[in-house]
Amino acid sequence: MRYTKLLIGALGLLLLLHSCQNNADEDMTSAAQQSPDGLLSLQVFLSPDGAPQYTLKYGEELLLDTSTLGVALYNGPLLQRGLAITGTQMRSVADTWEMPWGERRTVDNQFNELSVSFRESPPPHRAFRAVFRLFNDGMGFRYEFPEQEGISTFEIAEELTQFNLNGDHDCWWIPGDWDIYEHLYTESKVSAIDALSKRGHPNLAQTHIPANAVNTPVTMRTAAGTHLSIHEANLTDYAGMTLAVDTKGLSLQSSLVGSERTPYKVKRTLPFHTPWRTVQVSPDAAGLIGSTLILNLNEPNQLGDVSWFKPTKYMGIWWEMHLDKSSWDLASGRHGATTENAKRYIDFAASHGIGALLVEGWNTGWERWIGFEDREGVFDFVTPYEDYDLEEVVRYGREKGVELIMHHETSAAPRTYEQQLDTAFALMQKLGVHAVKTGYVGKIIPKGEYHHGQWMVNHYRKVLETAAEYEVAINAHEPIKATGLRRTFPNAISREGLRGQEFNAWASDGGNPPGHLPTVAFTRMLAGPIDYTPGIFNIKLHPYKPDNQVNTTLAHQLALYVAIYSPVQMAADLPEHYEGHPAFQFIEEVGVDWEQSLALNGEVGAYVTIAREERGTGRWFLGSITNEDGRELEAPLSFLAEGQQYVAHLYEDGADAHWDDNPGAYRISKAIVDRSTTLHLKLAPGGGAAVSFFPASGEEAEGILPYGQ
Ligand code: NOJ
Ligand code: CA
Repeated sequence: MRYTKLLIGALGLLLLLHSCQNNADEDMTSAAQQSPDGLLSLQVFLSPDGAPQYTLKYGEELLLDTSTLGVALYNGPLLQRGLAITGTQMRSVADTWEMPWGERRTVDNQFNELSVSFRESPPPHRAFRAVFRLFNDGMGFRYEFPEQEGISTFEIAEELTQFNLNGDHDCWWIPGDWDIYEHLYTESKVSAIDALSKRGHPNLAQTHIPANAVNTPVTMRTAAGTHLSIHEANLTDYAGMTLAVDTKGLSLQSSLVGSERTPYKVKRTLPFHTPWRTVQVSPDAAGLIGSTLILNLNEPNQLGDVSWFKPTKYMGIWWEMHLDKSSWDLASGRHGATTENAKRYIDFAASHGIGALLVEGWNTGWERWIGFEDREGVFDFVTPYEDYDLEEVVRYGREKGVELIMHHETSAAPRTYEQQLDTAFALMQKLGVHAVKTGYVGKIIPKGEYHHGQWMVNHYRKVLETAAEYEVAINAHEPIKATGLRRTFPNAISREGLRGQEFNAWASDGGNPPGHLPTVAFTRMLAGPIDYTPGIFNIKLHPYKPDNQVNTTLAHQLALYVAIYSPVQMAADLPEHYEGHPAFQFIEEVGVDWEQSLALNGEVGAYVTIAREERGTGRWFLGSITNEDGRELEAPLSFLAEGQQYVAHLYEDGADAHWDDNPGAYRISKAIVDRSTTLHLKLAPGGGAAVSFFPASGEEAEGILPYGQ
């Protein structure tokens, strides 16, 4: 009895602590909240003229100095001054949820929330809430605009969210382009960011950057070694956020992607809330990669069972077009997407356990594709070229266990695409095809919208939701950035949204440098899965592209299957470049769906090592990549299961490998390892290492020496 009372009392106190509510009459000028581990602490307060402001500390380090919140409206006065705090609320959540596919099966979702209500003291007395969630891996916050008298819509001219840095951090950034994320990352101090100088794009005319702004995720390292990355989560019915850089004040401020068709950037009916603005925080670079903050700030799965999509490796009638070996266009006389060629790929995929084939250039219209102003109606997504028997290819693939991945190049004509969507997806459903790669090359037509503005954000969502009705999963190229929506819509499987492998085939600037992916792992990859299309073995692209090459070693290409996450992972090179190649065995072996993922080490832009456990098999895989500097790394295998020995297949750079001088040199070895083993990885300049770990019985291990012997 006594204990029960005590228990109830304690519970009551806990509830009180966890769900505190303050009300209007109290004179409130500030509020505070902490992350569950107490390391991140947030203060919210008002400036003397009534502007909402916040600071964020990490331990003793002031991470974000006084930063102001607000919105500038086109259809109303500025909402940023003369505000009073009318109430605060706190709550805590600790639960877990499961990913149908992903980098891990189980996600811990633990946060402390602070919700602060503001109201204007002078008329028109508008009100809003700022809701902050503090996780151990960072903070998210958003604005919530409730229904209120006399206001039905907000036309947002600009969101005025500040991230006021407390130092001139090292920063890895791409320009805040409104149309494309396909830029190389620059490493500079925040004070030296000059995004305007980086807007060149070999394929597109002048890109549109209104100011010295960067796109997100943008990652920084403070003088104390703390890493932070700013991005957004759950981008829904709103414009993408770039960050305008004040290089003198060392401050970043939201700069929404606009439209030429409206004088405002976002239009919403009340009530609504903005996407979450996110700050991921870690004491080291590797810790950023394990962050689940972006996913946790999205709504739970709305689609239910999506087992019709299976993570898979895939090949493509694709790289051969980028090499100019063949063409998308039938009229070229060297059409790639023929029935015969598709069967050749299917045969190869089937004999190597690769589950799917992408076929580009299969539908009529490619002769009118690029360079034409009027791209609307070029493609109908249902009419194959005469030398491509779509149904036969699907049938043949199915017989051999290889699924087709459909291709919809919209040509950045989203209105045409929207009209065709149901017809296109109905055809896929009829054929039993469950994945499509979409594309949006070019400026959006008719002119006026940008790829990352509110109108297109809604378009990408419409495609995703319509596709789900037909049990179709989307791998979008030239997409809107990933903001964790795959949690809610797990048919959002992968996307491009970065400078992909394709640049190595044709970029006039020399392609992606060796440091590209060791940067991407800590920047773009924090947003979500990447369809980078790894696995090029013919690194010098001989004989197709004498002036281009891939700027990594072959082992680095293998390591990407683990280091860069996607549930659809391409074996991008041509079958004839894989045929008989011993290193192809790693691509056959490597998993695509993970029980857990661990970033073992890394420095942004320099190197990264990731280990992942495959779902359902107990196998582990490891990928390590480096930039143009060769290096030696220790990888302790303490993640392996206790009391279990493994046969490791090691795919490493050859002794004299080098991304430029000798990229194809590799060596393969086998060894017995267990959780007490430490691998000594020697990565060549631009190199990498890929390792498979198979749980092995004594019999299976027979004749293989322990590692290092
Ligand atoms: C650009 C995509 O990124 C690429 O993968 C595709 O082959 C072309 N568009 C054609 O759709
Ligand atoms: Ca692209």
